[in-house]
Amino acid sequence: MENLEALTFALVALFSFMLWRVLYSCWVLPIRAYRKLAINGFNGPPPSFPLGNTIEMKKTMTTESSSSSSSLTVSNDIHSRAFPYFAQWQKSYGKVFMYWLGTEPFLYIADPEFLKKISSGVMGKSWGKPTVFKKDRKPMFGDGLVMVEGDDWAMAGMMMETTTSMLDRWTKLINSGNPEIDIEREIISTAGEIIAKTSFGMDFENGRTVFKKLRAMQETLFKYNRYVGVPFSKYLCLGHNLEAKRLGKEIDALLLSIIVDRKKSMAQNGCSKDGKNLLDVLLEDNHVERQKARKLSTSELVDECKTFFFGGHETTALAITWSLLMLAEHPMWQHELREEIKQVIGDGDIDATMVAGLKKMGWVMSEVLRLYPTAPNVQRQARGDIRVDEDTVVPDGTNIWIDVVSMHHDQEFWGEDVNEFKPESFKDDVHGGCKHKMGYLPFGFGGRMCVGRNLSALEYKIVLSLILTKFSFSLSPNYTHLPSIMLSLRPRQGLPLIMKPL
Ligand code: HEM
Ligand SMILES: *[C@@H]1O[C@H](CO)[C@@H](O)[C@H](O)[C@H]1NC(C)=O
Ligand SMILES: *[C@@H]1O[C@H](CO)[C@@H](O)[C@H](O)[C@H]1NC(C)=O
Repeated sequence: MENLEALTFALVALFSFMLWRVLYSCWVLPIRAYRKLAINGFNGPPPSFPLGNTIEMKKTMTTESSSSSSSLTVSNDIHSRAFPYFAQWQKSYGKVFMYWLGTEPFLYIADPEFLKKISSGVMGKSWGKPTVFKKDRKPMFGDGLVMVEGDDWAMAGMMMETTTSMLDRWTKLINSGNPEIDIEREIISTAGEIIAKTSFGMDFENGRTVFKKLRAMQETLFKYNRYVGVPFSKYLCLGHNLEAKRLGKEIDALLLSIIVDRKKSMAQNGCSKDGKNLLDVLLEDNHVERQKARKLSTSELVDECKTFFFGGHETTALAITWSLLMLAEHPMWQHELREEIKQVIGDGDIDATMVAGLKKMGWVMSEVLRLYPTAPNVQRQARGDIRVDEDTVVPDGTNIWIDVVSMHHDQEFWGEDVNEFKPESFKDDVHGGCKHKMGYLPFGFGGRMCVGRNLSALEYKIVLSLILTKFSFSLSPNYTHLPSIMLSLRPRQGLPLIMKPL
């Protein structure tokens, strides 16, 4: 009898404790964060428990995507299409407000001046990435955070080789009577091959496999992404989540086998003959005994690889894709770039040093990344209170979501013709004529800015030069203009172009 009572008591205590834990993390902590933000004058759409503003976001998403699916003209005014809920909330709450993903409050920022104040209030390293995103996207990104400086990889040759084989495939397709080619798919798979080879020394087969899986995982995660921050969403969307986990494990296993192989061959032969790739640099870095820096574990190495694999290839491939859309719409710029290529490169092979000479192509890249920022948002988390001005503090732990698409399309900073394609505005100004220095952020900002920007420019220019020399192109009537967010900014139904050999 006594034993039973003791057991009951223990169970009740345990249950109460668990209930308290759940309430504390799903209710008390968020409300505390909410109060702090509200005291500092941030308001926003009223949340409901436990979904936050997720329902409203989903609703806006579906009405928006069903309403304008027959958009025949290509409009570069894409903000309300890419982030319909933010576009709507901006009308009521301005360019800085608070919204909720489940029980996690987020500070939304689309005002460069506010961003400037907040980043000058941040000392050195008090920025983090939101932990909710980290947790949620773990199968995709793992904990991979990167710092590797661009070593001098001999990559241009390999990029040319891979691109040329894609173009040969196109020529065959065209000769067999199919001038319409889905450029998005082609470019993404070629860029994937490039990064698989340059960064990891993978062969074609392995590269393909990792890509197919990453892509499937991205789609799975995207479907269930809308419940980020909702307590127990892991269990709500069990199917999706398990699927993502399974794919994640398979990718890890594959990368792991590649890392182990590479380690072995490094141990046997020292540095490989075919040049160093990113993985070698990571492994070598690991080899060198440094005082402070901790050695990366193998699973951390796998995570690093995933970050590069994903962050590197798709953003660049999509920059090329959107550029081909803009160039198809503006044949005059196709012509300008062909002339520049003739002058700078002539008929020979492209090498890495020539690429810097392709100035106009650089402007086109910058302008395309303004209108179609392939990394459409940047995230931060406050580590420590951040003072913005006299009476505003962004409290410790606040998740921050910066809307790059909105800032790049803001009339206030770019003028009336903000939605027109004007590469020449980058001629003498790295900010493209934006009235605010923090208004143009295709690669992020501050100490966490993209480390791959030079590499992406190299790849962009090589691939685009080769395409422009071999083909002229125009938009297929089959194209539907649906820029949408799947982590990166993508044309939802691909990019069919009509290609003509030159
Ligand atoms: C047009 C192409 C690209 C775009 C638009 C882009 C954009 C970005 C952005 C917006 C960030 C976040 C910066 C921030 O938080 O302030 C980022 C980070 C990063 N990017 Fe890129 N990127 C591109 C190409 C590449 C390439 C080619 C690589 C590598 C091969 C790469 C590797 C990385 C890495 C390692 C990070 C840091 C991740 C972290 O610290 O969590 N990116 N990139
Ligand atoms: C558009 O798509 C249809 C169906 O896939 C195809 O038959 C047609 O040839 C395409 N149009 C052009 C101009 O390629
Ligand atoms: C990119 O190249 C420029 C000039 O060539 C250099 O100053 C800069 O440090 C490089 N940036 C990165 C992230 O490698």
